Amino acid sequence: MELKERLDVSVIGAGYVGLVTGVALADLGHNVLCMDVDKSKIAEIEKGKIPIYEPGLEELLLKNKQEGRLRFSSSIKDAVNHGLVIFIAVGTPPKPNGEADLSYVENVARDIAINMDSYRLIVEKSTVPVETGEKVRQTMQLYIKGEVDFDVASNPEFLREGSAVADFLHPDRIVVGVDSPKARDLLFCLYSPLAAPIIVTDIKSAELIKHASNSFLALKISFINAVSRISEMVGADVDKVAEGMGMDKRIGERFLKAGIGYGGSCFPKDVDAFIHISEVLGYDFNLLKEVRKINEEQRKLVIKKIKEGLWILKDKKVVLWGVSFKPETDDVRGAPSIDIIEDLLKEGAKVVAVDPQALDRLREVFKDRISYVLDKYEAAKDADCILLTTEWDDFKDVDFKKLKEIMSLAFIVDGRNLYKHLELDSHGFLYLPFGSSALGKPVGGKKIL
Ligand code: NAD
Ligand code: UDX
Repeated sequence: MELKERLDVSVIGAGYVGLVTGVALADLGHNVLCMDVDKSKIAEIEKGKIPIYEPGLEELLLKNKQEGRLRFSSSIKDAVNHGLVIFIAVGTPPKPNGEADLSYVENVARDIAINMDSYRLIVEKSTVPVETGEKVRQTMQLYIKGEVDFDVASNPEFLREGSAVADFLHPDRIVVGVDSPKARDLLFCLYSPLAAPIIVTDIKSAELIKHASNSFLALKISFINAVSRISEMVGADVDKVAEGMGMDKRIGERFLKAGIGYGGSCFPKDVDAFIHISEVLGYDFNLLKEVRKINEEQRKLVIKKIKEGLWILKDKKVVLWGVSFKPETDDVRGAPSIDIIEDLLKEGAKVVAVDPQALDRLREVFKDRISYVLDKYEAAKDADCILLTTEWDDFKDVDFKKLKEIMSLAFIVDGRNLYKHLELDSHGFLYLPFGSSALGKPVGGKKIL
């Protein structure tokens, strides 16, 4: 479809979501300014250096910058002057009690109000609890100078890291939460080149759609992980169970992969925030508390499986293949690897991390408490256990004969059930996947788990 009208758009917050949003909207033909308080981040981007690893983003950024549709700034004044439509895409990190920290959103709302002298549409892109739109509106009204008209809208983002650009440009749906025809028309115009269906709702429903969607996907994963525990107990195969369930169109095959559970900067945080806001509103969302509990248990189960093979972990060399929370991203926020490494260190294990993109970010967390190696075989030398944590392509293609020779003990715990079809146990490996009959097989004369 054609772009109806070229709009001036500002995106506040140039992180995983803001940067992709800005670059993609520029690529649709809009005139975009991306703003971030982090001056060094903006300076790096200006030099053409992308602060995150996201496939396809760098090329698209450079293209749109060169073609004059995309620029960057660390001045909020610039951003408010520029954008008729202003996206708020700052972080909403979890507080210790699970509540979403909305101080960044409040800051931005205040700054926009102070600098605004004519109509603007303020769009929540950050994931926020229901009724945040009202708070944004109140804050704006409080700080705005004189009589300036504005609208607030909710346009939640459903992109996934690792496929963010494609997800943004080819979404399943676009949610437009508005309470004025002007806001609706602007957002329709903004997304006019995209073929996706648009659902128009009130602002609160749009906010709820985001929390409910992420929580539902997390629920699917925890559900299959619960089934995987039962599968282990009886010697069934959870992947076959998932396949059989997924063929029912009402259930669907996606997000039914059992393993070490979900991580990332969204699912864990958004499940917590949804539980918290529900509680504040007077509803005890016990179902989601179970979803979270099952997910936490999967991380503990990893340690149990490693111990099942090694008994004592002190001084054992455990190598994590993959530390990002999923493949094709450098993001380690909320990654299962972080909790697992902490637990391994508590047990006295020597931990080595291997990852094609995320080692620098992991180093910020663990400093010199663990070792970091790029090559999977080099890391595996004299290892007592390999734990497959992230299913990067590099870990799909493995010379297991070579691996067996270089490891101290041919022991693999497979957190993503990546090698299950290879029947590694019959090739001399002690191989422990998740939710499979392999666990029921006697290894070394002993029933595993
Ligand atoms: P991020 O931490 O990568 O980026 C946030 C950016 O905002 C940072 O660069 C930070 O410097 C900047 N910032 C903070 N305060 C600012 C201010 N006052 N003015 C300008 N910039 C400011 O976070 P993210 O992963 O991009 O997530 C942003 C929001 O989008 C969150 O609410 C998140 O839940 C939501 N979301 C994230 C994803 C994802 O996959 N990461 C997907 C959908 C929705
Ligand atoms: C998620 C949502 O999918 C996206 O719509 C939202 O905008 C942001 O949060 P993201 O966190 O980037 O996206 O990745 P996703 O592909 O959803 O995976 C999240 C986690 O769940 C990963 O740790 C992944 O390994 C895990 N997962 C996913 C499973 O354990 N099993 C599955 O079947 C699917």
